[in-house]
Amino acid sequence: MAPSKDSSSVLNFALIGCGRISEKHLTALTSGKLPAKLIAVADIDESKAKAKGEKYGVPHYRDYHEMLDAHPEVDVISVLTPSGYHVDHVVDLARYGKNILVEKPMALRVEHCDAMIEACRKNGCRLFVVKQNRFNPAVVAARKALEDSRFGKMVMATVCVRWRRDQAYYDQAAWRGTWALDGGVLSQQATHHLDLMQWFMGPVETVQCQAATRLMNIEAEDTAAAILKFKSGALGIFEATVATRPKDMCGTMSLLGEGGSVVVGGIAVNEIAHWEFEKKRPEDADMRKTHSQQVASVYGNGHEPYIATVIDAIRNNRPGLVEGAEGKKSIEILTALYESAALGGAPVVPGQPITHARIGLRQ
Ligand SMILES: NC(=O)c1ccc[n+]([C@@H]2O[C@H](COP(=O)([O-])OP(=O)(O)OC[C@H]3O[C@@H](n4cnc5c(N)ncnc54)[C@H](O)[C@@H]3O)[C@@H](O)[C@H]2O)c1
Repeated sequence: MAPSKDSSSVLNFALIGCGRISEKHLTALTSGKLPAKLIAVADIDESKAKAKGEKYGVPHYRDYHEMLDAHPEVDVISVLTPSGYHVDHVVDLARYGKNILVEKPMALRVEHCDAMIEACRKNGCRLFVVKQNRFNPAVVAARKALEDSRFGKMVMATVCVRWRRDQAYYDQAAWRGTWALDGGVLSQQATHHLDLMQWFMGPVETVQCQAATRLMNIEAEDTAAAILKFKSGALGIFEATVATRPKDMCGTMSLLGEGGSVVVGGIAVNEIAHWEFEKKRPEDADMRKTHSQQVASVYGNGHEPYIATVIDAIRNNRPGLVEGAEGKKSIEILTALYESAALGGAPVVPGQPITHARIGLRQ
């Protein structure tokens, strides 16, 4: 069983995977702002484990079993390994009975999400999925407007992810851009925006998607365009590419309803670019100023507030904002997009078995 904690305890974290995204977790956990303690780190690439262990003054391990056997005091295991391995690692780790936090995308196939959820349920673990953009002040404000019913009947949502990744990014690790372990822009970069779109617009009835590999030398797509029909009857347009040149241009989501319109803009859904409602409120005038945030990269600033809510959910036994079942929702849509693209743009219903898409398939 995952350790239960009282509402004032400091939670002990161990990290698995010391690659690119680990720095966001490590800085958040050691910032002194969270009731968290970093206990140890592991990476099969010992030089990476050593570098992070030394930088943050904690023991490092090559084998995560060895790390967890040596540190029974760990309360939360953060899984920051390549996406296609999340299922193997979470299912394997569940036997330790700890809380598990896994990076996005939760997994690459719906059946993998189910296996992770089931392994955690059986072992009494809580499974949290990183969705840091839900914590951007601009997104929080838009969500509050939705919960206050300010949009009324939703008409349409449009996501536009125009980011730059170059070949060097893909060449730095063998898993990147492969069908087995990563996928393309839809599963790796725009998975955040898929999650946001479904969080705001609700369940999806059908998707139609076209995907292309225009500039990158990778197996999966670098560019995709899709139309979504939500069960509410509203429509969605989803456009994503990592082939934007010469640099990152935008990561935005527009929300149009009968009561008003909001565009969450910037490069990482980090700014209020447009905010206008039929029924005005005094705070509307300053929304751009009060709810926009500077970001250093497209990863944004959301990891620390996200981890804070995980700690709060564990300490106070509250539901987390994104636990396994919620994390699975965007994977159902993601795999339906891949299925549709594999079928040349045919309509696909999320949640139906995927038979043509190769994402997440390994020998
Ligand atoms: N939330 C975000 O904005 C965000 C941003 C980037 C990446 N990610 C996600 O984080 C995950 C990791 O991405 P990354 O860019 O850091 O990749 P990376 O390749 O830089 O790092 C992954 C690390 O995992 C290690 N690893 C692999 N198998 C292992 C094992 N069995 N035990 C221990 N370590 C192991 C690798 O050696 C590597 O160092 C991916 O799922 C990715 O989608 C999330």
